[in-house]
Amino acid sequence: MMSLCEMAVDVLRTADGREKTRKSRDYARSWTEARAAGTPLEIGAAEPPLDPARPERPELLDPRDVPKRKPGSPQGRIALLHAVAHIELNAVDLHWDIIPRFAHVPMPLGFYDDWVKAADEESKHFNLMCDCLEEAGSFYGALPAHSGMWRAARDTADDLMGRLAVVPMVLEARGLDVTPGMIDVFRKAGATSAVAALETIYAEEVGHVAYGSKWFHFLCGRDGADPEPTFHALVRRYFPGRLKPPFNAEKRAEAGLHPDFYWPLVEG
Ligand SMILES: [Fe+2]
Ligand SMILES: [Fe+2]
Repeated sequence: MMSLCEMAVDVLRTADGREKTRKSRDYARSWTEARAAGTPLEIGAAEPPLDPARPERPELLDPRDVPKRKPGSPQGRIALLHAVAHIELNAVDLHWDIIPRFAHVPMPLGFYDDWVKAADEESKHFNLMCDCLEEAGSFYGALPAHSGMWRAARDTADDLMGRLAVVPMVLEARGLDVTPGMIDVFRKAGATSAVAALETIYAEEVGHVAYGSKWFHFLCGRDGADPEPTFHALVRRYFPGRLKPPFNAEKRAEAGLHPDFYWPLVEG
């Protein structure tokens, strides 16, 4: 039986998106079933790759070089779905990466439950976006994608609190701000399966932000650190740029992210 860290590294080393997410979902099921049976899998240890394996396509470009398309056109909607698919595939890797990367930090089993569940949901999200792309006559890999998405993982490879601050509490929280607008774009176009897929994503992402906030606060409590200034210092250290309003205050609060956390970071 593989340890959880070995499973995570196997997902990270799998390049093809459909194959990566199939493994991800199988391993998540193994973990969850073993937990429910009261016989948890070993966490173990394994060396995660510096960068996850990726398919040959999409071509990865500097964000400045990724062509912009009109959001109101069919091509614009395909580009939007493609961008979300790319984000979801990165998210699968990010949630598995946190497990072996920080396996030396003693954490309660609930920490692993949460990231395994998040990775499983991201895998579902990637497949939903691929299905929508295929329904629209395209596929993941047909367009270029951003190359910079793994940067947050590299920058926080030695700092679990930094990872939690930047990935779920800044980047995934940003998803909560922008997803309702995206849903509107597809609703106006009558693209019902894309609307349904994005609504699933929107509902489940609240949980990922909440896991980040929960474990960030847990670590602050264990270290005797004050959560707000600690969060601000970590985001300023690891996240280039400032946070951009408007914020989805309601969903952020549902996820345990209060305005005092994010508003001060608008100023840089
Ligand atoms: Fe997602
Ligand atoms: Fe997520």
